[in-house]
Amino acid sequence: MKALILAGGKGTRLRPITFSMAKQLVPVANKPVLFYVLEAVAEAGIREVGMIVGDTAPEIQRAVGDGSRWGVHVTYIPQPEPLGLAHAVLTAEPYLKEEPFLMYLGDNIVTSSVKPLIEAFEQRKPNALILLAEVPNPQEFGVAELEGARVVRLVEKPKQPPSNLALVGVYLFDKHIFEAARAIKPSWRGELEITDAIQYLIDHGYTVEWKKISGWWKDTGSLDALLDANRLVLEDLQPYNYGTLEETQLHGRVAIGAGSVLKRCIVRGPAIIGANCYLEDCYIGSFTSIGDGVRLVSCEVEYSIILDGSCVEHVETRIEGSLLGKNVVVRGGARRPRTMRLMLGDSSLVETP
Ligand code: TTP
Repeated sequence: MKALILAGGKGTRLRPITFSMAKQLVPVANKPVLFYVLEAVAEAGIREVGMIVGDTAPEIQRAVGDGSRWGVHVTYIPQPEPLGLAHAVLTAEPYLKEEPFLMYLGDNIVTSSVKPLIEAFEQRKPNALILLAEVPNPQEFGVAELEGARVVRLVEKPKQPPSNLALVGVYLFDKHIFEAARAIKPSWRGELEITDAIQYLIDHGYTVEWKKISGWWKDTGSLDALLDANRLVLEDLQPYNYGTLEETQLHGRVAIGAGSVLKRCIVRGPAIIGANCYLEDCYIGSFTSIGDGVRLVSCEVEYSIILDGSCVEHVETRIEGSLLGKNVVVRGGARRPRTMRLMLGDSSLVETP
């Protein structure tokens, strides 16, 4: 069986980060989201991977290469425009041909193995098998209405949800999904929606079955979800220290990369600090991921992700629930008057919650 990973798209919800990088390459616990996807696909025993790419194709190709790092062979499939998940499926038709395939959204992290899903699909041979997860807020997701093993209806962001089971970004399809994707019309947002294609299958007498996931799942396409995914992955962090500590206290599980120096800091895990960082007089709180070559001096950071090469110095207010891109500088000062000088890219956000 082949896999189709979707790593194109617009990434509007993660602007401005996505103006300069692919959202699938934003790191969660210092590892790009897409690498979790590739690990999951390889673990399921799949060797042939088609990867849908858009504007960020060169960056994705640089990061993933030919896939041999994961023991898979990756074929890149350019999607001329991000016209929806079902459009991505159609774009991949010449690659996928008539064989059933696993489709995996490149910005989704699922902790449980997808092997049982593939086994159930091969045994029962439905036309589609979708993955569902229990969520507390089904109003915000695509939700499934079920009758026994079958899915009878899918509704996008329902005001009165028929269940609390949301659609996870992992699907199994046979060749009939191409017929469905060709038949549907673009939605109000101008995209060919995969939920509409699946609903077409249901409405035309094809079997669509479902399975519930056991672990957790996150679509990392928005800031809150990304930070939550970071928290969940850090929950399982294995501590290590390859750095140098001077008068520094580590509490709980903390991982520190080679060449990093921490002076007079308090780090409360779970937290990960990359290689070649310099931290002085800092407090690093739980669920924080700090990339490589980051400089933090006289500041406090908690429940945040800071990417490579950034610098935060002399900031009195604790930075919390934040995502800082690469080479960002946040610098405070003690001098009066206490003014603020900003140079922010399009769609940047500065706020006091
Ligand atoms: P989405 O998060 O649904 O869409 P998006 O990437 O355009 O983001 P936003 O809503 O913030 O603008 O996409 C899910 C995954 O599928 C993601 O990895 C991007 C990928 N994708 C494609 O490859 N092609 C497409 O046409 C679309 C819409 C998404």
